[in-house]
Amino acid sequence: MKLWAGRFESDIDATVDAFNASLSVDKRFYKEDILGSCAHATMLGAKNVISKEDADKIVDGLLGILSDIESGKLEIQDAEDIHSFVELTLTERIGDAGKRLHTARSRNDQVATDMRFHMMNEIKAVKKSLLDVIKIIRDKAMEHTTTLMSGYTHLQRAQPISLAHHLLAYVEMFRRDVDKLDDCYKRTASLPLGSAALAGTTYPIDRGMVAEKLGFLSVCRNSIDGVSDRDFVIEFASILATVMMHLSRFSEEVILWCSWEFKYMELNDSFSTGSSIMPQKKNPDIAELVRGKCGRVYGNLMSILTVMKAIPLAYNKDMQEDKEGVFDSIDTVKECLLLFGEMLKTSTFNLKNLREGAGRGFINATDVADYLTVKGVPFRTAYKITGELVAYSIKADKTLETLSLEEYKSFSDVFDNDVYDAVNLDNCLKRRNSYGGAGTAKEQLRELDEYLEKIDG
Ligand code: ARG
Repeated sequence: MKLWAGRFESDIDATVDAFNASLSVDKRFYKEDILGSCAHATMLGAKNVISKEDADKIVDGLLGILSDIESGKLEIQDAEDIHSFVELTLTERIGDAGKRLHTARSRNDQVATDMRFHMMNEIKAVKKSLLDVIKIIRDKAMEHTTTLMSGYTHLQRAQPISLAHHLLAYVEMFRRDVDKLDDCYKRTASLPLGSAALAGTTYPIDRGMVAEKLGFLSVCRNSIDGVSDRDFVIEFASILATVMMHLSRFSEEVILWCSWEFKYMELNDSFSTGSSIMPQKKNPDIAELVRGKCGRVYGNLMSILTVMKAIPLAYNKDMQEDKEGVFDSIDTVKECLLLFGEMLKTSTFNLKNLREGAGRGFINATDVADYLTVKGVPFRTAYKITGELVAYSIKADKTLETLSLEEYKSFSDVFDNDVYDAVNLDNCLKRRNSYGGAGTAKEQLRELDEYLEKIDG
């Protein structure tokens, strides 16, 4: 049975029916559809658009359907979409009152409402997953505030940092993602219901009442925009793409750090895989898959942007294509955050290799230049002297820590015994204490704890 039977003389062609249907995708938000209908029916009853008795019957019937779906007693099937399924089942169960539910609304404002309502719940769920990962990174960083390693630029050893400082850079990315989700939530939580097909309705409805019942923060101001806007899907899909980009960068480092060339990191056996032919292999498949799945999440964003780009106002059926991609992005991101977090939690870092990596590569060269600068040598000159020192050390197979004072002095007589303090890597790290610098991991962690407490509390 179709909701729109009446105008048509013959039944819909079976292949058209299948092509047109969206039930397999939109059954995902059965709960939001049912709760949205409950709020709508209650409001219609309160405004005397339908009788109070009918409103009560509808709400009871809808809640019965909800509990039967959740207990597995009722299977969602044999309908064009979730809206048709719920309404037809309701009418089957309670008779004529069920036929009054759709008064003063259209599937156009209904689907927009369901989608926003569902996205509101998913935004909260993704935020929770992000915070879980942030906490895992925090715990790791806590253990490594004095773990020395080299920071990189161009994948070349650059300057001394702590492992905590490096990890906390990812916390910043994920915190930005959380901020964006909060912001996106505000725009998503605007209620389209009451926009009806596109032009609003002649019934004396109370849209504010429905918004309040469902936990929406506002009501869409323009009925045409109410039914035709999918910016909230694009915005969420874009944030999800950014989360994946962040996870993918982190994954790339995990993969590099697990290689024999680095061996900075060791994954737990339960989060690694082997090779079918090479017995020695221990592969970081989880990190590789997270990096790989970034592709589909980017694709989903591009897909919804393209769907929306030339749709005339107001609702057009193209917009049914707004769901599958973003649902896939949501599921992918949640799964990747969960697995990546657990992988990180169970992994260990090789402090010896991290420090050895820092010991080679002249990452304290800037400190030598700074040493000379503080003693009055202009920075450009100090930079040149240090460059010559590095070139000399490479030829002599020495490091800035192992050069003799005579060797130092042969490049500049400003050098004195205190140069060895200046090139000591732990000192180099500690001294980078400008706000947000590599030597401030403990301060960053303190601020992070305040942030987490505020968010959880
Ligand atoms: N399944 C449809 C969608 O997802 C519901 C809205 C249908 N509206 C309509 N006028 N045919 O967009």
